[in-house]
Amino acid sequence: MIKKGNLYWPSKGLQKRAWVKSKKIYQEAQKRPIKFWEKLAREIFWHKKWKKAFLHQPPYFKWFIGGKLNITENCLDKNLEHNKNKVALIWEPEPTEESSRTFTYYELYSQVNRMANALKKLGVKKGDRVGIYLPMIPEVIISMLACARIGAVHAVVFSAFSPQALKIRLQITKAKILITADGYFRRGKVINLKENAEEGIKDTQVKKVIVVERAHNQITWKKGRDFKFHDLLETERRLCPSAIMDSEDLLFILFTSGTTGIPKGCVHTCGGYTVQAKFTGRWIFDLKEDDVFWSMADIGWITGHTYSCYSPLLNGTTFLIFEGAPDWPTPDRWAQIIEKYGVTTFYTAPTAIRMFEKYGAEFLTKYKFNTLQILGSVGEPIDEAAWRWYFTKVGKKRCPIVDTWWQTETGGILITSLPGVGPFKPAFTGLPFPGVKVDIWDEKGKSLPPNKEGNLVILPPFAPGLLREVYKNPQKYLKTYWSQYGKKVYFTSDAALKDENGLIRIVGRVDDVIKVAGHRLTTGELEAAINLHEDVTECAVVGIPDEIKGEVPVAFVVLKKKRHPQKIKEVIISKIRAEIGPIALPKEVYLVEDLPKTRSGKIMRRILRRLFTKEPLGDLSTLANPESVDIIKMKT
Ligand code: WTA
Repeated sequence: MIKKGNLYWPSKGLQKRAWVKSKKIYQEAQKRPIKFWEKLAREIFWHKKWKKAFLHQPPYFKWFIGGKLNITENCLDKNLEHNKNKVALIWEPEPTEESSRTFTYYELYSQVNRMANALKKLGVKKGDRVGIYLPMIPEVIISMLACARIGAVHAVVFSAFSPQALKIRLQITKAKILITADGYFRRGKVINLKENAEEGIKDTQVKKVIVVERAHNQITWKKGRDFKFHDLLETERRLCPSAIMDSEDLLFILFTSGTTGIPKGCVHTCGGYTVQAKFTGRWIFDLKEDDVFWSMADIGWITGHTYSCYSPLLNGTTFLIFEGAPDWPTPDRWAQIIEKYGVTTFYTAPTAIRMFEKYGAEFLTKYKFNTLQILGSVGEPIDEAAWRWYFTKVGKKRCPIVDTWWQTETGGILITSLPGVGPFKPAFTGLPFPGVKVDIWDEKGKSLPPNKEGNLVILPPFAPGLLREVYKNPQKYLKTYWSQYGKKVYFTSDAALKDENGLIRIVGRVDDVIKVAGHRLTTGELEAAINLHEDVTECAVVGIPDEIKGEVPVAFVVLKKKRHPQKIKEVIISKIRAEIGPIALPKEVYLVEDLPKTRSGKIMRRILRRLFTKEPLGDLSTLANPESVDIIKMKT
């Protein structure tokens, strides 16, 4: 990389190798974004071409109207022509003594078709929702693709989510079938996933459960309802004609936290998502057929969907998925994996980078990382110190860092610098992807000049992969994304600023979303879980800065009776574990007498947060109960 001032530019070699070598493409795309996306869409295999590229009926919009395709033909069948015997998927299990598994494109194709046939036999039809509650094992990829093959809509639920979190997602989607596993390995322990699934499917419409035998742990089994994944596949044919899908048919639903504890099902459709997943992966990670791409994100998150499944397959590359924790059993497990498979592109979150850094530089001295070409970061702002560590110690000052901004809602990356174009600037994500129009606005909707912080918005024609609706909740869709600035402007809920070169820096969320180790949670859903406790009068949860995880939640709870405080704290914590899962556990629960409120009764969470940051508390005289702050201050 070439450094000029505070910017880094790609070397000649990097530029030469890249799909996109110059800024020209931005200008072309900016002038006619719809034409630009159409040009990309033509590189996808369609059964029938679209009649109209973009139709806008605010707050709704469509892409590639009338087009017919199936994403799995683009992921699999297409690759049988040249890549039949090439490895598509590498799976690294957590236990080091266990062998990895690989699937060539042909093997993956066969397994997906078998699973697709099995699902059909179990009565799954086009448009049906299928719940998937699986860890990072190859069967999760096979299951998602099998659904897409037959036009069923997959709704993946993060395997570390609690039974309660699974239940509500199954209830909203009305899935009749769930694909899960007996268990999986996490930090040397077996997690009994089936037990959680049993609990989660109670009071839902799930009638059939497909179980992958992964950890061979003891599980309950209900004859007639439960089916073994591998038994089902064994008897099926490895050919299953793909369902011809309309461009705007549903491909999947992926939930993201809602404010009240009710999650929002982001709906992604077939045509637009395919185009965006393919080309963002190709241009941002510079995916080539000889690459080994490792995106560390769990499949339960959007990064897992797009970059640990669809995008690498759409680009005919080899990709890796890993079952375990990157620092287990030794802190350098992730580095061993990079070397073992010759990973060329490594995509992770700032939390992981900070954690690796904390282990100290010594354990990395033996790694040269010669195969690495591009590094990626996602999910939360990457601070300058973490950026520099990643750049120097992992990328060896050779590899560009693509700091990619996007959301569950956007389906694919929308802002980042491109590896062959640059420039790269620590703590800045970069320019909007070609064909994507974003801006930074003040509260009134005025575009802000460089270096002024405001709200990040996306302007028409958005991007083909942006969510089409919140599943079964049009009000939520309208209110969350299309009400701040009217129905024609997508409100991201992120604060940002741009520098004089137009490079964008993401400051953070302006709503109640907190990013805990890159995981998206809302303080509202934690509060809803705490309020379930009968002794709780009211509570407030805020995200406070954390050296490794970026942010962590802390809770302030007012109790009706003040008996057994320690016990109540434990119950509150277990409520959060049961309602959401271990990722949402607060760092601390403070039992307090009163919460700071405005005269109209609104809890001032901002003030509570400032007790943990270096910011001044601000004017407390407008509070109805300023003394509450002093009392809380003594406790924190
Ligand atoms: C945040 C993750 C800074 C942002 C793909 C966004 C980021 C939210 C970045 C979406 C980044 C994502 N820099 N912040 N590179 N990428 N975010 O839905 O606040 O889990 O709105 O999608 O993560 O989180 P989600």
